[in-house]
Amino acid sequence: MKATSATATAARSRAGGPPSDGPKTTRLRGKDLLGISQLSPEEIVLILDTADAMKEIGARPIKKVPTLRGKTVVNLFFEPSTRTRTSFEIAEKRLSADTLNIASATSSVVKGETLADTALNIMAMAPDLIVLRHAASGAADFLARICRAGIINAGDGAHEHPTQALLDAFTIREHKGGLSRLKVAIVGDLLHSRVLRSNVQLLTKLGADVWVCGPPTMMPPGIERLGVTKTTSIDAAVEGADVIMMLRIQLERMEGAFFPSFREYFAVFGLTPDRVARAQPDVIIMHPGPMNRGVEIASEVADGPYSVILEQVTNGVAVRMAVLYLLAGGIEA
Ligand code: CP
Repeated sequence: MKATSATATAARSRAGGPPSDGPKTTRLRGKDLLGISQLSPEEIVLILDTADAMKEIGARPIKKVPTLRGKTVVNLFFEPSTRTRTSFEIAEKRLSADTLNIASATSSVVKGETLADTALNIMAMAPDLIVLRHAASGAADFLARICRAGIINAGDGAHEHPTQALLDAFTIREHKGGLSRLKVAIVGDLLHSRVLRSNVQLLTKLGADVWVCGPPTMMPPGIERLGVTKTTSIDAAVEGADVIMMLRIQLERMEGAFFPSFREYFAVFGLTPDRVARAQPDVIIMHPGPMNRGVEIASEVADGPYSVILEQVTNGVAVRMAVLYLLAGGIEA
């Protein structure tokens, strides 16, 4: 299941990664995937190339390979999830890993057990990988320091969601052939979004022209230092865009009011067919989900011809298979 050097070179060039005679890599550094911040452009391209091969497995009548047979993966979810948890579990099963799901509501966390004690008890059963979602920024990093198993960050607070950014990049690459020099507009609740932080790092590492747009109350201070253009005008953000990525209003992370009402938010920042018409004729519309229809995005747009929102979900399985394979090793498929 290794990406060949020829496919890796071609894909590296498509992705807007390093030139074909630049440094190449065939493995990830370290035992964990904690954030896009730790990945070089070469490692990002390696994951995307490996996901290309993994996607082919999902198109077979029998969607299963023995690659991670004998490996154990624990999915430890302390926050709700539909897409990430399900796609990790499907990815693990397609690679023949033994998988267990632990949700905070049905674990001893409800009796007051700490994250560290929970993890150390799971470690006593010798898993190879732990996939962690947690409401606290830095939770995955904390676990990585105390666990021998590899830790995959499935979203930690408002910090990072690396596999979401990787599946977004994979989807963009499928449609556009690469990421370099594309105008990508990211619009919505920037302040509370781990998807924003991971995507900005990935897209800028691969050479995209990233614009971020949201209300001034939800604009992270100093965001422009990450190499993006910031604006409070959605019309400016989407003008000529190749990709529009809408972000969810994250009410669960807000204390107090950040905008007057949903109706007014939609009027100023909602993605409507009229606003889509300002973008490139072959624009793709993305959303990590779950969507607030009629708040950040109109249903006609979410379900319309430019939407790749469900493709993102499909690609999430292939990208997570790639990450699991590259971190856990395993046998050739
Ligand atoms: N995109 C995403 O993380 O969705 P879930 O919260 O459903 O996993």
